[in-house]
Amino acid sequence: MTATHQALWVDRRGTFRVGPAPTPTPRPGELVVEAHAVALNPVDAMPGVARRFVYPWLRLPTVLGTDVAGTVVAVGEGVSRFRIGDRVVGFASGQERFRNDPAHGAFQHVVVLAADLTAHVPDEVALTDAVVLPLALTTAAAGLFEPDQLGLPLPVGTPVKAGDERDETVLVWGAATSVGNNAVQLARAAGYRVVATASPRSAALVLGLGASAVVDYRGRSAVDEVVAALEGHTLAGTVAIGAGSLSRTIRVARRTQGTRRVASAYPSPVTAVRRQLARPYGVRVSAIWGGSPARSAVGPAMFRDVLPVALAHGRYRPSPPAEVVGEDLASIPAGLERLRGGVAARKLVVRLRRDPDPR
Ligand SMILES: NC(=O)c1ccc[n+]([C@@H]2O[C@H](COP(=O)([O-])OP(=O)(O)OC[C@H]3O[C@@H](n4cnc5c(N)ncnc54)[C@H](OP(=O)(O)O)[C@@H]3O)[C@@H](O)[C@H]2O)c1
Repeated sequence: MTATHQALWVDRRGTFRVGPAPTPTPRPGELVVEAHAVALNPVDAMPGVARRFVYPWLRLPTVLGTDVAGTVVAVGEGVSRFRIGDRVVGFASGQERFRNDPAHGAFQHVVVLAADLTAHVPDEVALTDAVVLPLALTTAAAGLFEPDQLGLPLPVGTPVKAGDERDETVLVWGAATSVGNNAVQLARAAGYRVVATASPRSAALVLGLGASAVVDYRGRSAVDEVVAALEGHTLAGTVAIGAGSLSRTIRVARRTQGTRRVASAYPSPVTAVRRQLARPYGVRVSAIWGGSPARSAVGPAMFRDVLPVALAHGRYRPSPPAEVVGEDLASIPAGLERLRGGVAARKLVVRLRRDPDPR
């Protein structure tokens, strides 16, 4: 009889149901992980119709979720970096077009991960904290480092010493978001000065992650204030996150010296129009896909080279802070409902304990 474990399935109408899934064995280059924590992302909280628009290839029913942390229970051929029992965090790629496989979705007790998209979690970091990272990290890294986005040089393992920083600035608009928290930290790790936007409730968090200046994005004068904060510095590129971020960051890029590249993590139907309108002013707009590092050199660079070292030395913060909103798979839909209502500088996380399959 095939072994099974419990998974949270979603169907074509967006209805969730906990039920059995076949327990996988890893293929070459893969790990199988027992999930102890999963994090919830806005993309998981989309209604079924919107999901079909964002993931038209997705075969349903499937298992959603991208962020998983747990312990390794099986190691595939050719994987030398991990052993059974290791504490890890990884990017579950089940929804990506190239994968389209429920076994790789995060919302279940046993998850398949690509070893290249998995990092060790040091003992002093809780799995419920580490799990806030994967999709927000890959989205920020895609925007900053993919050659068709801002194309910045990747961070090196060692921290940039004061005085050795680049004389260039990255603008992170919407820095209080999960993606923004990672964009600030990664840009700093790559040696850039960071100017950010966030509302006053989140300004201290964003400054604590390394931003030099924080402007309230909601103010009428936000664009002028950001331009002032950038004065005397060369702009290396902009990551635009959140509703209204693209139009305003294009206005900033037009008024500053440096690279007029804007990578948008908030692509909408008007993004293509804005991209065309910005072009005559030398502003190059690109749309970020957070899963692209799963197929490029950027994902392995993050999970293999940057994250494990930075976490072990306390140089990278799993941020925004986790808020545990449930203890089992069945509590995920209520957590997604809460996410739809909006969260402020928090990542909603569900802790999992493996239930023996009742069958
Ligand atoms: N393209 C991709 O592949 C991809 C991947 C992941 C996420 N995303 C998108 O990126 C965005 C952020 O997702 P997330 O999970 O990082 O968000 P999140 O953690 O849920 O963001 C919460 C924060 O959003 C900030 N915010 C709300 N409205 C804003 C606005 N109009 N402009 C700037 N900041 C705003 C608030 O900051 P304050 O506290 O400062 O008010 C709040 O604290 C979402 O639109 C999401 O769909 C895209």
